[in-house]
Amino acid sequence: MAVRSPIINVMGNAALKAARGLIRDFGEVEHLQVSVKGPGEFVSTADLKAERTLKTELKRARPGYAMLFEESGAEAGSDPRHRWIVDPLDGTTNFLHGIPHFAISIGLERDGEIVAGVIYEPIRDEMYWAEKGAGAYVNDRRLRVSARRQLGEAVIGTGMPFGDRADQQAYMATLAAVMGATSGVRRMGSAALDLAYVAAGRYEGFWEFALSPWDIAAGLLLVREAGGYVSDMAGGHGMMSSGDVLAANSHLHLPLAALIKEAMRAARTAF
Ligand code: IPD
Ligand code: CA
Ligand code: CA
Repeated sequence: MAVRSPIINVMGNAALKAARGLIRDFGEVEHLQVSVKGPGEFVSTADLKAERTLKTELKRARPGYAMLFEESGAEAGSDPRHRWIVDPLDGTTNFLHGIPHFAISIGLERDGEIVAGVIYEPIRDEMYWAEKGAGAYVNDRRLRVSARRQLGEAVIGTGMPFGDRADQQAYMATLAAVMGATSGVRRMGSAALDLAYVAAGRYEGFWEFALSPWDIAAGLLLVREAGGYVSDMAGGHGMMSSGDVLAANSHLHLPLAALIKEAMRAARTAF
């Protein structure tokens, strides 16, 4: 049986507490789909409520830690070596539409390095967690990235730019390249869970541009601790600042990176 350290217990318990509210509110959102006003405001409140619960719980356990929360931003602490990086609801669009695929993501940074991560998916009651050097788990099961070696057999997760985001041409080029070379692309709507799925060997890889630190802090560690590789699109380690993320098992990280890089280069020449 996997033994969770005190810090993982703190993170897991905070996630469970916030998830209770999210599950209740999700039940309500499913009914609100047919109302004229829609569930927009209700969901923003659910999101904020989850954030408040997480903040209270994490603060109570480790009062001095600095914080970066998606909704309320950064807060300095008396112990700036440590920082919580938290997304109280990843997959908001799914939640808003009654699609049962969303998660809470909590990362813990020490001296600028992610050392612990928890991603909790309330609907399936799946608690993904990882601690630096101690491996990655879902509930009590150890996680390993998939062993597939051929891009042609791979299922790759992604996130698509939406609304007025400017990077759509370059993204479309990468999507076309990955679609053509693999056995399928999935866009499920939660970057945190996308990374957890790479760690769990469900996806062989994942790529997305311009994510935020709270989307990826916990997931990057999960993939690494499950034996996978994470980088930005240039193969460097600027993921937390650029938000560009490419994650994959050790066999497919290089080929996938080459494919995406070449597609971006070709798109840049064309436009
Ligand atoms: C979003 C999700 C989505 C990704 C977006 C994120 P949110 O987070 O992770 O999968 O494509 O870029 O902003 O808004 O649901 O917390
Ligand atoms: Ca998010
Ligand atoms: Ca969010």
